[in-house]
Amino acid sequence: MLHSNTRWKRAWDISVAVLALGIGIFIPLYAVFPFASGPLIVLSAVVALVFFLDAGFEIALARRGADAPGAADVAAHEAVHLRAPTAVVAAVIAAFPSLVLAATGVLPGGAFRLLLALPMFKLGKLNRTMRRVGEAVMNPAVVRLVLLVFWILMAGHIIACGWILVSGNPAGLGASELYITAYYWTMTTLTTIGYGDITPSGQAQMLFVIPIQLFGAAMYGLIIGSIAGLLANIDVAKRRYREKMEQINAFLRYRNIPDNLKRKINSYYAYLWETRKGYEETEFLHDLPAALKESVALHLNKEIIERVPLFEQANENLIRDIILAMEPVVFTPNDYIVRAGEIGRDMYFISKGSVAVLSADETVTYATLTAGQFFGEISLLLSTPRTATIRALEFCDLYQLNKDQFDHVLEHYPEFRGSIQELAEERRNRVEALQKQENSP
Ligand code: CMP
Repeated sequence: MLHSNTRWKRAWDISVAVLALGIGIFIPLYAVFPFASGPLIVLSAVVALVFFLDAGFEIALARRGADAPGAADVAAHEAVHLRAPTAVVAAVIAAFPSLVLAATGVLPGGAFRLLLALPMFKLGKLNRTMRRVGEAVMNPAVVRLVLLVFWILMAGHIIACGWILVSGNPAGLGASELYITAYYWTMTTLTTIGYGDITPSGQAQMLFVIPIQLFGAAMYGLIIGSIAGLLANIDVAKRRYREKMEQINAFLRYRNIPDNLKRKINSYYAYLWETRKGYEETEFLHDLPAALKESVALHLNKEIIERVPLFEQANENLIRDIILAMEPVVFTPNDYIVRAGEIGRDMYFISKGSVAVLSADETVTYATLTAGQFFGEISLLLSTPRTATIRALEFCDLYQLNKDQFDHVLEHYPEFRGSIQELAEERRNRVEALQKQENSP
């Protein structure tokens, strides 16, 4: 159950992150505003406990070892080798002031308050968790920008509290007014706007402001850089598609390809873009290790399997073998997929679109086949030339199974041979009957 990818572990990580966020907000406030010690002691005890449990989880993960089966993913390696030692150190440091506080029960003053800032260590975990959760639902470039803004706001909060600490409350403002003024000052300084309505006076305030000004300038650069990066990356796929189309069209012009063919090529790529958004299934699967490839291919092709009645009763191994052997192919409207009289090398399953089954001279339409149906099986099964011509009526997404793979499947699954042969013979008889009818005067 305890694996870095289980739902429990993820829920736990999110809870720790929320707690860390609370700490990040609450501790700087505690440093400047007086709070009752009771709730603070309880909070510190909870913080210490949670951080120790968290370290426990990380150690347990480390014990299981990166070599354990299933721990091959990057997140698990990161957990065991990098996060575990950090978590232990963070837990000990974070718990120290809380334990002292809980043991003595006294609200510490002076420098001890600074020790209470130690659990802010855990903000690192907050960042990791937010990034992981964000990247699961959003473009990573957007996540980076959102996180940057979040951390700037958070840094603003900490700096505002620090400003209150060094400048005090000479005007005798109420707590919220004091905080808002300090936050406003922080943001005008960080963004380099600097109205100058609130200025540092005295050495302590000036010394406090210098690193903040430097931080503000760096932050400015970071934000501009992030936005530029975001704009460049927000739609990498679309940009790549546009570049590819420019290249293709330049080639088509250079080789004087006729206009109608140019249009066909362009509409083919437009169709690919519309249906796949630039991601090529085969390319993607090719890079995956065998076990993952199988799971992903099964998931991607679930729809086609559900649509093909032939697979309804088929056993799981047969389906897996067929799926791993099938190659996705696309045909544009009016393309010839199969020509009557040719030697058959592949059969096809229709995933999307429809095709016409025609006589050799294309004057008679024997049938129209749509999603979930297949064709091209007769010549593979009976070792005869193609019995009909098949043309795409629209854009068609098909899965292609070559003769070797087809033979392999039939050899291992004789029951599949039975059902496919039945249909093949029925189709062939129908074609032969129609041909006889045509040839008779
Ligand atoms: P094959 O002969 O390899 O190539 C042409 C294909 O058209 C054939 O396999 C069948 O899959 C399909 N076909 C032939 N006749 C019919 C028909 N009457 N109805 C549906 N499909 C057919």
